Amino acid sequence: MLEQLNEIEKSAMDSLQTIDNESSLDAWRVTHLGRSSALMQVFSGLGALSKEERPVVGQAANRVKIALEAAFADKTGAVKKSALERSLNEETLDVTLPGRTIHVGRLHPSTQQLRRVLAILAEMGFQVYTSREVETDEMNFQLLNFPPHHPARDMQDSLYVATEERGDNPILLRTHTSPGQIHAMRQFAAMNPKDPPPIRIALPGMCFRAEQITARSEVQFNQVEGLAVGKGITLSDLKGTLVEFAHRMFGQNARTRFRASYFPFTEPSAEMDVECFVCGGKGCAVCKNSGWLEILGSGMVHPVVLQNGGYDPNIYSGFAWGMGPERQLMLRYKIEDIRYFWGNDIRFLEQF
Ligand code: DAH
Repeated sequence: MLEQLNEIEKSAMDSLQTIDNESSLDAWRVTHLGRSSALMQVFSGLGALSKEERPVVGQAANRVKIALEAAFADKTGAVKKSALERSLNEETLDVTLPGRTIHVGRLHPSTQQLRRVLAILAEMGFQVYTSREVETDEMNFQLLNFPPHHPARDMQDSLYVATEERGDNPILLRTHTSPGQIHAMRQFAAMNPKDPPPIRIALPGMCFRAEQITARSEVQFNQVEGLAVGKGITLSDLKGTLVEFAHRMFGQNARTRFRASYFPFTEPSAEMDVECFVCGGKGCAVCKNSGWLEILGSGMVHPVVLQNGGYDPNIYSGFAWGMGPERQLMLRYKIEDIRYFWGNDIRFLEQF
């Protein structure tokens, strides 16, 4: 019995020697001091021993148990200490290291420009109003004073979504943001049909045309439409607003001019030019030697359009305009090919 105890002690001590981590320490404790360990079996066998043997073996077993427990405690301390040392050595944190740059995405240049435009318009009192990209012919054209088969439709070749059995009112992707004018006027007019409230809104969004894709034309592009409707609004309000916009957008010294133009939904109509940023008005390739760059179409809202929006043209008047953020970026940064915008070439996009 005593010899067996010596063996139990020796083998337990030997295996404890080799242990260097906390999980094998735990396993060791179960094997050598646990309920079904050889040592505990000696204790439970004590009752079967003779009266003389019992105290001798009992004392010896106790001594082994105490020795193993002490050795286990020592080992536990040592293992914990070396684990701590290791982690202190290996996992040092050098707080003087420069931080790592986190690569975050960026906004698309068109989105950035849209936000610049809308921020300026917001300062000038224009609230953002968004409307749908899929429209009926009625909204996109007819209510804007383009009757079916009107030649002005040729300016805006359409991408149709549904034509069958819709007669003169097919569904199409909006070719401009102008149908938003009708949506907005009708919604505002519905608030108080007898005396509709004044409107000052900016309508941003994607437009679509069945264009041949070239350096100068794309099948999709953004527009920002503006609309102001109220009592006593005149052409001077249009000019004042758009010149002020151009100053805030292109600089206080930017020179502007208006040229008479034609749109079915405005009367009179005008296009606004800014002096060429590139040559300062002297004439260059970007402005095709004219010294001017066209940046928007505008006009006094046509009486028919006001009527279609629920505003009595005898009482109300208004002005509207439409401009293209991509075009503004192209002029500003001399981007010579509109296809860059939707080409998703990261080398282009990362420059903004
Ligand atoms: N909708 C026109 C286009 O896409 C732009 C435009 C011109 C909008 C004059 C207007 C406007 O609101 O008054 O070419």
